[in-house]
Amino acid sequence: MRMSNTSLWILWALLTLALCGWLGYSLLLSDDNEIFLLGQTSHGHHQIELACTSCHTSAFGGQEVLQDACMNCHGDALKAAQDDHPRSKFTDPRNADRLAEIDARYCIACHREHKPELTGEMGVTRPDDFCFHCHASIAETRPSHAGMEFNTCASAGCHNYHDNTALYEDFLLTHAGQPDLLEKMRVPVRGHHTDENHADALTLADIDMPATLSMDSDIPSQWQQSAHARSGVNCSDCHSNDAADSGVESQQPAWIEKPDHNSCRSCHEQQVSGFLSGMHGMRLAAGLTPMRPALSWKPMRAQAADITLSCNSCHQAHDYNPVRAATESCLGCHADNHSLAYQNSKHAALWQQEISGSADSGSGVSCATCHLPRETHQKNGKDVVRVQHNQNHNLRPVEKMARDVCMHCHGLGFTLDALADPALRANNFQGRPAAHIESIRMAEERLRQQQENRQNRGTGQ
Ligand code: HEC
Ligand code: HEC
Ligand code: HEC
Ligand code: HEC
Ligand code: HEC
Ligand code: HEC
Ligand code: HEC
Ligand code: HEC
Ligand code: HEC
Ligand code: HEC
Repeated sequence: MRMSNTSLWILWALLTLALCGWLGYSLLLSDDNEIFLLGQTSHGHHQIELACTSCHTSAFGGQEVLQDACMNCHGDALKAAQDDHPRSKFTDPRNADRLAEIDARYCIACHREHKPELTGEMGVTRPDDFCFHCHASIAETRPSHAGMEFNTCASAGCHNYHDNTALYEDFLLTHAGQPDLLEKMRVPVRGHHTDENHADALTLADIDMPATLSMDSDIPSQWQQSAHARSGVNCSDCHSNDAADSGVESQQPAWIEKPDHNSCRSCHEQQVSGFLSGMHGMRLAAGLTPMRPALSWKPMRAQAADITLSCNSCHQAHDYNPVRAATESCLGCHADNHSLAYQNSKHAALWQQEISGSADSGSGVSCATCHLPRETHQKNGKDVVRVQHNQNHNLRPVEKMARDVCMHCHGLGFTLDALADPALRANNFQGRPAAHIESIRMAEERLRQQQENRQNRGTGQ
């Protein structure tokens, strides 16, 4: 039996497709991908742009495959931020008509890649008035919005597409009328021995490094003064793979000369995964060499060009000084205007008072207060304070910093005004906000109107 022309054509098409797919995929997997990159990737992904398979996990499957990749890395954070426009909003048949222009079920409807000419802030590849496509009639239900331009919806202090946890109406109303500076500051205080039953403190006599090895003479005393020795953490806890893991119990575990972040995992899982999820650790997470200032798109100190990013870039290997980690370490690498301006801010003066002991713990503002904030978690029914090690977690859009950082000390109104002011962001918050954001007043006005209408109805007018 002979095949018809059409079946031959289909067979040929399928074979070609398979071949292209296979070739394409092996290109994605190869080590030197630069020549295949179609166009620079966005600011958030430039560090991993040559790790093609981070996003293109398979050559087949098109947008669904990309969607899964996006969700794998960003899904948890969007969920935690109570994404205001999640996919479920658009798989709801009642909203089907809204998808005509923008198929918002897919991330790449707004975040395309390799298209630098289309890409704006936060990897958005839509013109900034795109809310129009779904909210053209907003002024009918919200008279306060009459006459507003659609490119102003997402101005700082108004709305975000995803994270509105510091901007929704009830939140604005609950925190209306707060003073610029709260009477009582509420930065969580980090305590030791809060969650584990620690072993007894170790002394120099307990050191378990093989005697055949030599070391720097500072190491024992640094270790002895650290929280590690105080909590029963010995040299081999970081310097060897767990013997039990390798299944060889009798053998003395091999000494690792320079442990990396994996050696901290068994005890500090949250800190390690936070570090790997942000721009300090994302290259390690993608299986690439560590990030270093030489690869950065930001202004960095020339002398720091080749310092690699690891836990040790802020913490020393044996001397864990949280004060040095919180500002000095950062300024060893970062040299943009905002970072350099910090030293002259009132926040920095407050931090100096805190570390000199003349003010309470948590009353100062270091780089880490804003960028690696302390978070309170629940463990075995108790509050445990942990440092968020993903410095991108609350970075953009700016309102993300409001609730868990600024509002520990400032009222909501002042916070939104200050964060929305580009000059204050650039000079690291020296001076008063230049403009006032109207969101809180608009929410109050709407509440007043609603109450008035209800009263009128009640009195039969
Ligand atoms: C951070 C995620 C990410 C990384 C890393 C990445 N891509 Fe992509 N790529 C995408 C997205 C998203 C699209 C879809 C873009 C669109 O529809 O405009 C895409 C599209 C493509 C396309 C199809 C182009 C088109 O216009 O349809 C090719 C080919 C491609 N990428 C190759 C690569 C190669 C080669 C690498 C590595 C050198 C790479 N990509 C790295 C996210 C990524
Ligand atoms: C391998 C993990 C990974 C994958 C896959 C991935 N991202 Fe990212 N993305 C990151 C990291 C890490 C950052 C930088 C830290 C941050 O901003 O959260 C980032 C940043 C971003 C940003 C913010 C950029 C900025 O400038 O603030 C957007 C938007 C984004 N990703 C969207 C996507 C979309 C859409 C996809 C799917 C096409 C995707 N990402 C796939 C890890 C990933
Ligand atoms: C209809 C457009 C649209 C779609 C669809 C969309 N985004 Fe976004 N995304 C934006 C805009 C606009 C911003 C800028 C910040 C904002 O307004 O929330 C943004 C910002 C982000 C950011 C950085 C800021 C943040 O809040 O973390 C990430 C990460 C991100 N998007 C990931 C995704 C992922 C993952 C998907 C798919 C599940 C997705 N986006 C779908 C429009 C979109
Ligand atoms: C693809 C369609 C689509 C786009 C684009 C879109 N939205 Fe929405 N938005 C919706 C839908 C659907 C709802 C839920 C129903 C409603 O309130 O209209 C919604 C609800 C909202 C709400 C009410 C929030 C809530 O939790 O009830 C706000 C505020 C909002 N959108 C702002 C924006 C802003 C700002 C933009 C642009 C940055 C935007 N939207 C872009 C479809 C969209
Ligand atoms: C909390 C984990 C941890 C503990 C506990 C620890 N170390 Fe280390 N040590 C490290 C790390 C991380 C490095 C790698 C530093 C680097 O990459 O440069 C290191 C490096 C070293 C080096 C190589 C130093 C160099 O500069 O070449 C020696 C020697 C050493 N440690 C000895 C010890 C001894 C002895 C103890 C116990 C008294 C100890 N360490 C306890 C984490 C630890
Ligand atoms: C065997 C468990 C264990 C390992 C492995 C371990 N730590 Fe620790 N670490 C602890 C304990 C216990 C404490 C003190 C109690 C606390 O603060 O919760 C601590 C405290 C710390 C502190 C706070 C110090 C202070 O004075 O506030 C830092 C920073 C730290 N560890 C970093 C690291 C790094 C980086 C690594 C990997 C190179 C590492 N740790 C490996 C158990 C461990
Ligand atoms: C960008 C700098 C930086 C890097 C990189 C860094 N840390 Fe930290 N870390 C800090 C600062 C600053 C503090 C103290 C913050 C405070 O006191 O509020 C801290 C505190 C800690 C603490 C004690 C507080 C807590 O959360 O329990 C541990 C443990 C810790 N770091 C572990 C790690 C590990 C493990 C790594 C590597 C995966 C790492 N750190 C990488 C800056 C950093
Ligand atoms: C060893 C050098 C080094 C140290 C130390 C360091 N950083 Fe970074 N930081 C970098 C590099 C490199 C990047 C990635 C920049 C890029 O991708 O262009 C980065 C990224 C960031 C970002 C994200 C920037 C963005 O636009 O998304 C923030 C915020 C940040 N660092 C703050 C800090 C803070 C706060 C500290 C101290 C607690 C610190 N860094 C310590 C080198 C360092
Ligand atoms: C009072 C809180 C606060 C303090 C203190 C602070 N920052 Fe920031 N930082 C921010 C905010 C808010 C942004 C976001 C700015 C934006 O999006 O325009 C930011 C942005 C950044 C960025 C990204 C800049 C860019 O190019 O987009 C880096 C890097 C950074 N900060 C580092 C530091 C360092 C290093 C220190 C200490 C020397 C520090 N910051 C102190 C709040 C703070
Ligand atoms: C630990 C408490 C604390 C945190 C957290 C904090 N601030 Fe402040 N801030 C203060 C105090 C106290 C002052 C007043 C200092 C003075 O007048 O001497 C201040 C002053 C300011 C000023 C006025 C500075 C001047 O030169 O007059 C601005 C603007 C500001 N903060 C913005 C912010 C923003 C934005 C955030 C969050 C990203 C933030 N602050 C986080 C305590 C804090």
